[in-house]
Amino acid sequence: MILVTGGTGYIGSHTVVELQKAGYPVVIIDNLSNSNRDVLDGIERITGIRPEFVEADCTDMDAVSGLFDKYPGIKGIINFAASKAVGESMQKPVLYYRNNLNTLMNLLDQMAVRGVKGIVFSSSCTVYGEPDVNPVTEQSPIKKATSPYGNTKQISEEIITDVINAGAPFKSVILRYFNPVGAHPSAEIGELPNGVPQNLIPFLTQTAIGIRKELSVFGNDYNTRDGYCIRDFIDVVDLAKAHVIAVERMLTDKSEAKIEIFNLGTGNGLSVMELINAFESATGVKVPYKIAERRAGDIEQVWADPTYANEVLGWVADTPIEDTMRSAWKWQQRLRERGIM
Ligand code: UD1
Repeated sequence: MILVTGGTGYIGSHTVVELQKAGYPVVIIDNLSNSNRDVLDGIERITGIRPEFVEADCTDMDAVSGLFDKYPGIKGIINFAASKAVGESMQKPVLYYRNNLNTLMNLLDQMAVRGVKGIVFSSSCTVYGEPDVNPVTEQSPIKKATSPYGNTKQISEEIITDVINAGAPFKSVILRYFNPVGAHPSAEIGELPNGVPQNLIPFLTQTAIGIRKELSVFGNDYNTRDGYCIRDFIDVVDLAKAHVIAVERMLTDKSEAKIEIFNLGTGNGLSVMELINAFESATGVKVPYKIAERRAGDIEQVWADPTYANEVLGWVADTPIEDTMRSAWKWQQRLRERGIM
């Protein structure tokens, strides 16, 4: 059985679907702080299987320990449970350090005594900061974090490394995500941020459907080919599939290495404006936008060299961006049909 922390969240829920499709039984722990119990229905509608679910906070050691008592068959963990808004982390750093680090430490402590074989950790390209050279490989320098959120990812990677180097009886695969976008093509699950979206695609689709008046495009004077920031937008289902491969790798001892790090991106940098154009041409829907000031803390350009993941995991993120934009739009429309947004 695989424990998926934060499994009702955006990337977590898509990963639960892929795990179940691959035959893994799943138990989710989630405090529902940024997600909803209805996600379990969506997962069940896609896979025909309702994952086990425990509503609890991973920073609560008694809850985590109780979960392992209840599900002694847990062999692997994927840790998605974390706070992830860059801006909020600047306002509430303690919340970010507490949530993200205590969760990880509680899991690592339990793993050691529960016979869990490995943990997949959700890291981020934010660890590379503003890279001197693109695309970034796993060997690219780790720059000083620009936000407490980013710092929690760097510290988490260090904690895992230290614990494993100290002889912990388990493995870890650290996955550095670039910019996950889109939704499951069934539109049964997708991204559902609370309040006003901070990230580009939810804001864009909410604008396209009329919830927001216009999208602010943050900066058009960057030193890039068209002046807009460049990111590596990766389809969330492609991303989810990499987790299944990582889990299998840990559980079957496919690799000697006790700790491995992979970039998960497409290898293609797309500017914010190119993404808007891709959305419009894929859906036929116009997105009202205005050019606004640069957003503080934004990185100018970052995209992945995913060669290592491609070769070692036998995995590639190859969903065309137009398909991803259509899935994001279908999900937004489904939320409207259901009267959610
Ligand atoms: C940030 C984090 C990343 C984190 C992710 C999840 C950094 C460097 N990156 O990604 O680690 O995992 O959030 O929350 O800390 N944009 C607009 N208008 C909008 C929204 C965004 O123009 O309304 C632009 C941004 O300026 C940026 C791009 O779209 O250039 C992507 O922004 P966003 O979706 O927020 O993700 P990141 O900031 O790249």
